[in-house]
Amino acid sequence: MKRNKRGRISNAFPDVRLRRLRTSAAIRDLLQETRLSPSDLIAPIFVQEGLKRPQKIGSMPDIQRLPLAGLVKEVEFILKLGIKAVILFGLPSNKDDQASSAYDSKGIVQKSVETVRKQFGDKIAIITDVCLCQYTLHGHCGLVTNKKVDNDRSIATLAQVAVSHARAGADIVAPSAMMDGQVQAIRESLDDSGLTDTAIMGYSAKQASPLYAPFRDAAHSTPGFGDRRTYQMPYANAREAMREVETDIEEGVDIVMIKPAIPYLDLIYKTRRATKLPICAYSVSGEYALIKAAALNGWADEDAVTTEFLTSIKRAGADIIITYQAKKMAQLLAKR
Ligand code: PBG
Ligand code: ZN
Repeated sequence: MKRNKRGRISNAFPDVRLRRLRTSAAIRDLLQETRLSPSDLIAPIFVQEGLKRPQKIGSMPDIQRLPLAGLVKEVEFILKLGIKAVILFGLPSNKDDQASSAYDSKGIVQKSVETVRKQFGDKIAIITDVCLCQYTLHGHCGLVTNKKVDNDRSIATLAQVAVSHARAGADIVAPSAMMDGQVQAIRESLDDSGLTDTAIMGYSAKQASPLYAPFRDAAHSTPGFGDRRTYQMPYANAREAMREVETDIEEGVDIVMIKPAIPYLDLIYKTRRATKLPICAYSVSGEYALIKAAALNGWADEDAVTTEFLTSIKRAGADIIITYQAKKMAQLLAKR
């Protein structure tokens, strides 16, 4: 039992001084509870079919759409920084009502996966986004029947897409369409195709968020009618988010994801307490754009804010983080 100079029990000031643990950079570093590492980070890559040279994205400064021919150099750079995983997003030349270029064995994502795998073997973990919105004329994440997003037809197509990515060599497929039963349909199709080692990272609690706007600009995937609120999560509902996590786990997901990240630290924390599965947080395009816009105006210190945001996401309970700042963060960590 702790007593003060007068012999009284004390667990408070002046016997307790929390500032003792903050007196120098060395002590603060010694006691840092949450540490980022480049191997926590997943770098997103946009690959566009038929592109001649890298293309800037207006609402996402420093992020580019890459041609297939630019992919090897990009992944080489990412690996040099100590990052071990990429998530690939494809922009096809052709869109149609069936999203047929999404499951084409010669599609842009399938070719990208093959290219990266051939060049780097298993040095890099390849994750693919499995969705239909970049591949459909209407821009919805599922197939449309009579002006409505048709859940059960969509999950069959999503399963085809996932199998085609896995056949090309993806380690992890990440369904982001928010269709009910998508994880189960994908797991069954992967297993039936002998792809039992391919893991599934579910976009489990994906909020209907305005923070995806820059991504839709980048990926040409803005819906042509309506919005995504009949399938993405209403962001005011934490219990419903946990049901999304639960159903994904029951359907056989290997990694759960919460998305976006910063406004949803509570959901990351709740998920951490509810499951032993690895948790991924996706710090989305809008989170990136907000920091970038402020930094470009001189209103925020980009490096410091990025470090704070990503550390907070990990502190809340995320094991891994998809972030457009992956390369920058890895460079900052190397400088420390
Ligand atoms: C496709 C997809 C989206 C994002 C990831 N996969 C867009 C959307 O659902 O509209 C958003 C990522 C980001 O904003 O960075 N379904
Ligand atoms: Zn989608």
